[in-house]
Amino acid sequence: KQTVKVGLMGLGTVGTGVVRLIEGHQEDLRKQTGCNIVIEKILVQDKGKERNVSVPPEKLTDNPRDILHHKDIDVVIEVIGGIEAARTYVTEALLNEKHVVTANKDLMALHGVELLHVAEEQGCDLLYEASVAGGIPIIRTLVEGFASDRITKVVGIVNGTTNYILSKMSQEGATFAAVLKEAQQLGYAEADPTADVAGLDAARKMAILGTLAFRMNVSLEDVDVAGISSVTPEDIEYAKQLGYEMKLVGIAEDDDGTIDISVQPTMIPQEHPLASVNGVFNAVYVYGEAVGETMFYGPGAGELPTATAVVSDLVNVVKNMRLGVNGRGTVAPYREKRVKTAEQ
Ligand code: NAP
Ligand code: HSE
Repeated sequence: KQTVKVGLMGLGTVGTGVVRLIEGHQEDLRKQTGCNIVIEKILVQDKGKERNVSVPPEKLTDNPRDILHHKDIDVVIEVIGGIEAARTYVTEALLNEKHVVTANKDLMALHGVELLHVAEEQGCDLLYEASVAGGIPIIRTLVEGFASDRITKVVGIVNGTTNYILSKMSQEGATFAAVLKEAQQLGYAEADPTADVAGLDAARKMAILGTLAFRMNVSLEDVDVAGISSVTPEDIEYAKQLGYEMKLVGIAEDDDGTIDISVQPTMIPQEHPLASVNGVFNAVYVYGEAVGETMFYGPGAGELPTATAVVSDLVNVVKNMRLGVNGRGTVAPYREKRVKTAEQ
C-alpha cells in the first residue's frame, strides 16, 4: 500500500498530540514505513467544540460507524478512554480486520487478554504502549527487550498526576486541590481524576506490567491498592524531615511463581533514585534474573509524550502490514498464577 488510512477515535489531549505528530513528522514516518499515513476520519462527541489543533471539519464525525465500517481505514487509534464504548469499538474494529492502537489502560487492564486473543484470531495488531508510563516505551521493553529473561520484580512510579501533586506539595508547599486542578488543566489527569488519586490508574498499569513481566494473567483484583487522598501536607513535611520523599509506588514481585502486587503511598529515602522522580515524570525499575537491575525514566503523561507512544505503535503496525506479519507479536500469558495471601 502507498497510503495507510487511519481512523482516530478521540481528539482530546492524546488525540490532539497524535494529529500534531503525524502531521509534523509526516516525512520521517513515510521514510520509515514506505507509506503515507493519512488520518481519514476523527470520532468526537461534540463536532462543534473548539479544538486545539486545526482539522478539516469534514474529517470530524460523531458516528463510530464512519470509522469502524469505513472500507479504506486500515488502522483505528482508540483514544476516547473509558471502558464500555471503547471495548465495543476496539472489538468491532478487530472483527472488521482493522489493526488497533490504544492508550487505554482501563480497557487493557480489564479486557486486554480477551482483546489480544481476538486480535490474534483476526490476524490484526493490537498495540497499547501508551497505556503505561506515557512516553516511556516500557511495554515494548518488557515484551521484546526482556524476552530472554525471567523478571522477578517491577517497581514503578506510574501515575503522572499523583506524582505531580506529591512533588508540588513537597517542593512548593502547594495545596492538594490547587495542584490537582493544575494537573487537570495540563491534560495529565483522567477524565474522572478519582482514578488517579485513588491509585486505581496506577493499579491498572501495574496489572498490565505484571501480566507482561511475569507472563501470567494478572488482574486488577490481584493488586492491593491505596491512593493518596489521605496523605496530608503534614505527612509529607514529616517524611522530609526524616530524610524521605512521599511517592505513590507500585511494586510487583514474583516469588517463585507466587505474585504480590500493590500500589501505595510510600516513604522513599531521599538518596534513592525514585525519590528524585518529580512532577509528571514516571520511572520503572525492572529486575531480571539474568540482566539484574534496570531502570527507565521519562514523562508519564501529557499530549506529546503520550502521542509518541501511540504513533510509534502506529509505525510498527504499518511496518508489519508491509511485511505481512500482523497479529504475530502477542505472547499469551502462559504461567499459572498464584497470588500471595494475607497469611503468607
Ligand atoms: P480526553 O482529553 O478526555 O479526550 C477524549 C476524547 O474522546 C475527546 O475528544 C472526546 O470527544 C472523545 N470521546 C470520549 N468519549 C467518546 C465517545 N463515547 N464517543 C466518541 N468520542 C468520545 O482524554 P485523553 O486525556 O486524551 O485520554 C484518552 C485516553 O488516553 C484515555 O484512555 C487515557 O487514559 C489515555 N491516556 C491519557 C494520557 C494523558 O496524558 N492524557 C496518557 C496516557 C494514556 P469531545 O472532544 O467531543 O468531548
Ligand atoms: N492520568 C494518567 C497519569 C495519564 O496521570 O499518569 C497517563 O496514563
